[in-house]
This record gives sequence, C-alpha cells and structure tokens, in this order.
Amino acid sequence: MSVSNSEQETKTMGKKLAARLRGGEIVCLYGELGAGKTTLVKGMAEGLGIKEEITSPTFTLMNVYRLPATAYQLQALVHIDTYRLKNEQELRAIGAEDYIGKLETVTVIEWPEKMENLLKGKKTIKITLEHGENGERKITSSNNYSLLIPVADTPVQPVPHNPDYTYNPSHTQSPS
Ligand SMILES: Nc1ncnc2c1ncn2[C@@H]1O[C@H](COP(=O)(O)OP(=O)(O)OP(=O)(O)O)[C@@H](O)[C@H]1O
Ligand SMILES: [Mg+2]
Repeated sequence: MSVSNSEQETKTMGKKLAARLRGGEIVCLYGELGAGKTTLVKGMAEGLGIKEEITSPTFTLMNVYRLPATAYQLQALVHIDTYRLKNEQELRAIGAEDYIGKLETVTVIEWPEKMENLLKGKKTIKITLEHGENGERKITSSNNYSLLIPVADTPVQPVPHNPDYTYNPSHTQSPS
C-alpha cells in the first residue's frame, strides 16, 4: 500500500506506473468519487509523453491519446470512464474492443465494475484508491506493478518495431 498526500504525489505514482508499461496492459482503477483515479491517469499520460490535457471521458466514455512517435509498439493511451455507462453495448458500439488489451495500447479504466463482461478473461492490473482519514489517499495495487517499488528514472529498453505494421485506428482523438 502506498500513501499519497497530494495530487502531485498521485501523479508521480502514475508516472512511475507508466514507466513499467510496454503495451497491452489493462489498468483498472477502483475507488469512489474524487478518490484520485483521473489524477493517476494524468500522471500516467505525462509519463508516456502525452502533452494533451487529460479530461475525463465522462460523456464520451473513451478518449484515445496517441503517444509521440517512439520505437515502441505502444502507440496510444486509451482512457475509459464508465461512470455514465448505461450498458456495455454502448462501449462495444464505439469500438472499445478494438483497443482494450491490444499490444499497441495501454487501457486505463475508471469504474471498471461496470464493464466486467468486456473484461472477462482478460488480464488486468487492479489499483484501488481510498480516502484516508486525514485527506490522504491509500493506493493499493494487485500485482507486481506495485507502486511501492521505486522505479529508476531510466528510459525503458525499446522493443523491436515492426515497420510493416501501422496501427491506425479511426477513433483517435484529434489534437485540440
Ligand atoms: N492525494 C491525492 N491524490 C489525488 N487527488 C487528491 C489527493 N488529495 C486531494 N486530491 C484532490 O481530489 C480530487 C481527485 O479528483 P479525481 O478527478 O482525480 O478523482 P476521481 O477518482 O477520478 O473521481 P471521479 O470518480 O469523479 O472520476 C482532486 O480535486 C484532487 O485535487
Ligand atoms: Mg475521474
């Protein structure tokens, strides 16, 4: 369990988590309103080099942020927020399944409880954020991606890039 005493500390945890991601991961964020889920996503986005401002896809359900060109297979951060989701078909309809768990994406989901069927059988990283008694946030992670382990600030090793394959989904958010 990690304790975060500020918005900035939670963002830093997101950045550290991002440094471990290679593509294909599905990060499920559990926690009540205001627990800091979106804040963690902002840190992840920063860690992945995304310059666009991250806004919660409360109404759009899903935002796709392209990463700056790298040698990695990872090409986009997919941010899903199911808070206003009525049924999982809504996510299917916007093509979420084309992204979730694909090697070219990292998917991070707020309120994953509401899309359990879409996640069934998929390996996920579970992170829970809870309000502590003095305003701090208690953050726990399900597996080796533990936020407790300090990550050296060294660049990750690039994975071989396959020049024959271009990931070019249509749902990508146009830069604003
Ligand atoms: N340690 C902390 N970590 C993260 N946010 C904090 C912390 N302490 C205070 N805050 C504040 O709590 C709020 C967290 O908001 P955030 O949008 O990240 O929550 P959320 O879990 O995404 O909520 P929602 O379920 O509504 O989407 C922000 O206003 C932030 O400034
Ligand atoms: Mg949020």
